[in-house]
Amino acid sequence: MLLGSGELGKEVLIALQRLGVETIAVDRYADAPGQQVAHHARTITMSDAAALKALIEAEKPDIVVPEIEAIATHMLQELEDAGVVRVIPTARAARLTMDREGIRRLAAETLGVPTSPYKFCDSLAELQAAIDGEHGKAIGYPCIVKPVMSSSGKGQSKIDGPADVQEAWDHAMAGGRVSHGRVIVEGFIDFDYEITLLTVRARGADAESGVIETTFCEPIGHVQVSGDYVESWQPHPMAPAALLKAQQIAEAVTSDLGGQGLFGVELFVKGDEVWFSEVSPRPHDTGMVTMATQWQNEFELHARAILGMPVDTTLKSAGASAVIYGGVDATGIVFDGVANALQVPGSDIRLFGKPESFVKRRMGVALVHAADVATARLLAKEAASRVKPRKAA
Ligand SMILES: Nc1ncnc2c1ncn2[C@@H]1O[C@H](COP(=O)(O)OP(=O)(O)OP(=O)(O)O)[C@@H](O)[C@H]1O
Ligand SMILES: [Mg+2]
Repeated sequence: MLLGSGELGKEVLIALQRLGVETIAVDRYADAPGQQVAHHARTITMSDAAALKALIEAEKPDIVVPEIEAIATHMLQELEDAGVVRVIPTARAARLTMDREGIRRLAAETLGVPTSPYKFCDSLAELQAAIDGEHGKAIGYPCIVKPVMSSSGKGQSKIDGPADVQEAWDHAMAGGRVSHGRVIVEGFIDFDYEITLLTVRARGADAESGVIETTFCEPIGHVQVSGDYVESWQPHPMAPAALLKAQQIAEAVTSDLGGQGLFGVELFVKGDEVWFSEVSPRPHDTGMVTMATQWQNEFELHARAILGMPVDTTLKSAGASAVIYGGVDATGIVFDGVANALQVPGSDIRLFGKPESFVKRRMGVALVHAADVATARLLAKEAASRVKPRKAA
């Protein structure tokens, strides 16, 4: 049972089905991308604990795979504790990563992993005090404010000076997923580049022994605009010392979260210095590039890891991905220029099948493999730009 059936869940469902698994796709709205390919589709509010419990008890899935953050994770924990279901990778991982506080405190305070300086605040006054350092070390300017419950950059803004604080607070209050008014303020890290390190916890070569081994994909570089991913590429070249640190951080965080599956570990890098930012205990949006670059893409790796099968994280080719946004607010859209986009050498495309388009909604992605990353990035952006969504006549 996939909890969340967007474009990432859809690919996980397909990968599981290829290994003979019967699937149930759950989402908050009908005809979500994953529901279009699963054996069964169910539509509920997944943050509603009673509704989630009723669905799991009725369907009796062997495995529950959370694909989004906004889920009643304490209910998953209850059901896992009672032996009713197995949650991927673990109910605790889903719970700790559903908001920014659980995972940040675990990484920085329990595991001692380097992160940006941060404070959690419940009011504008607390935010200002955290920045100014009235109670302890100052976060200072510039800094970044994010609702504790949000993703894809929603409600997030950079504060360059005192004049921006009120606006950032208001923006966070409007953009959070649930209105409980808590934010994280983080010192701004002036990184050289950021990566996603896809990290897989799967049974090792001796699958019978049940020992879980950690393996890493090649680093994925990406560009974020307003906290939302617009292009990614693989491999991103890294100095050996920085790569080693990145892998050590990823290993520390994912082995604490435990279970089996693929994780997207987000890291900032400057020279040989590496900071942990956050982690998804599931495939990552920037990892869609692996559909063009790896023998087993991130969705196949997740499926195999979940099922206790061996994984292969080797790179097949350099490549890149570029997001195709809706560009229009409309229900029922068509895409012009697809054949033209596929003229781009080494290109492929995924159109997600979302029933409703928004200007800034991710509706598809262009994928390109090429001899090198620089070429792949240019070609992926070219292919994406040739696809023009419009309202169906
Ligand atoms: N402390 C920081 N210093 C510098 N840049 C940052 C910092 N925190 C976030 N960013 C930038 O904003 C982007 C989005 O931040 P973050 O990943 O925390 O938000 P998100 O809403 O969870 O995004 P997503 O769901 O797309 O991963 C980061 O990838 C990075 O580019
Ligand atoms: Mg992120």
